[in-house]
Amino acid sequence: MKISIVGSGYVGLITGISLSSLGHRITCIENNKDKVFAINNGKSPFYEPGVDLALKSAIKKGLLQATESLKEGVINSDITIIAVGTPTIDNKIDLTFVKKASEEIGRALRESKKYHVVTVKSTVLPGVTEQVVKPIIEKFSGKSIGEYGLCMSPEFLSEGTAIKDAQEPDRIVIGQYDDKSGMEFAKIYNGSKAPIIFTNLWTAELTKYTANSLLATLISFSNEIARIAEATGKVDILEVWKGVHLDKRLSPINGRVRIKPGVLKFILSGCGYGGSCFPKDTKAIASYADELGIETSLIKSVIEINNTQPIRTVKLLEDVLGKNLAGKKIAVLGLTFKPDTDDLRESPAFPIINELLSEGAIVFGHDPGAYKEGVPPQLSNLGISLANSTEEALKNADGVIVVTSWKEYTQLTPKFFKENMKLPVVIDARRIYNRSSFTNAGVIYKGIGL
Ligand code: UDX
Repeated sequence: MKISIVGSGYVGLITGISLSSLGHRITCIENNKDKVFAINNGKSPFYEPGVDLALKSAIKKGLLQATESLKEGVINSDITIIAVGTPTIDNKIDLTFVKKASEEIGRALRESKKYHVVTVKSTVLPGVTEQVVKPIIEKFSGKSIGEYGLCMSPEFLSEGTAIKDAQEPDRIVIGQYDDKSGMEFAKIYNGSKAPIIFTNLWTAELTKYTANSLLATLISFSNEIARIAEATGKVDILEVWKGVHLDKRLSPINGRVRIKPGVLKFILSGCGYGGSCFPKDTKAIASYADELGIETSLIKSVIEINNTQPIRTVKLLEDVLGKNLAGKKIAVLGLTFKPDTDDLRESPAFPIINELLSEGAIVFGHDPGAYKEGVPPQLSNLGISLANSTEEALKNADGVIVVTSWKEYTQLTPKFFKENMKLPVVIDARRIYNRSSFTNAGVIYKGIGL
């Protein structure tokens, strides 16, 4: 089938690449000229493992191209997917790009004679597809449902594994305005083994927020318990999680093999979640509930715990170095919100760095991915030095906070910290090191949940 995708950001391009692997012809519509040029030359505008290779292969097979012309892309396709950004402004979802895309798609459809399905893949609150997208498309196309189809199908991609997540989805949720819309849209998944859930538009929209809020809730719950563990002075939270994870309802036994479900990664303590989804989606669903008159004390607490969790790592540092960090050199290892990405959005590294700076510390940051292709604006005005190596970041440092669990950091030894730092004070915000081997080697080691 011919599919056009409006927006060539993370979701749009990865969706396009994965649909091309099912044999569809994809047109990525993007209003940024540089991105169009990059995509057509097989270069992804963002970093994601495997994306360049998959993109080049799709282009070579003639199955994917990018264009600035929305009209051309829409008219020459059977299905249009909206994959533009839905940022948060003042804790509320900003639909500017969704509205603009809907208007332009509507205008293009006015000139199209055939049945065309429009599917929203951007994360939008319940009701947006029916109450915002639909009237705009109808106003500008002059058509009504039946003459065109309307669906909402959320994405469930995780950064770092997005290509695999998109090519082998665990489920496909299709919210449909009517049966015909859903049946037509589902054709693009012919050949996929994933189960398809057909539902209404509102349910599909809420499914996405629920999936992300559940995982965010597990993280904040784990961090709240870590605070209790810390306060006892007697408990290592990792041992608690070991005891909890082995409940066979959380890790079932199949024959003799213990299955370790991916969800257990979210029942672990650390310095909090970040990224493009959890912070934005939890805030958006909470303010949507407010509008409905529903009190979401749980989701609001999840957000609050996450807001305060990062700076607890600075308190751990102060427990060793004292309250006054003025003039002390502190290294921060890991700036991205998680490993294997260059994404800095909502990374817990920022509140940690701001707290260190406000206390007068001299901060050296390091990250293997965040500034490989040049220093992004979020980092250039931060008031920290960016090191080219872990050695440079740690050299003569009075302390280090390890924020992101990049593989490179997990392999650092106590000897390495001792040899490079003035004072080997290691704050492990992700609990990636073996506590006893670090303390036995003479490192002053502190971690979340200890
Ligand atoms: C997430 C969802 O997993 C994905 O399904 C959805 O489509 C988009 O949002 P992503 O943002 O890529 O994906 O990151 P994920 O790997 O889920 O991690 C999110 C954040 O949680 C990261 O900041 C990570 O460090 C943090 N996290 C994860 C914890 O703080 N503790 C944990 O135990 C696990």
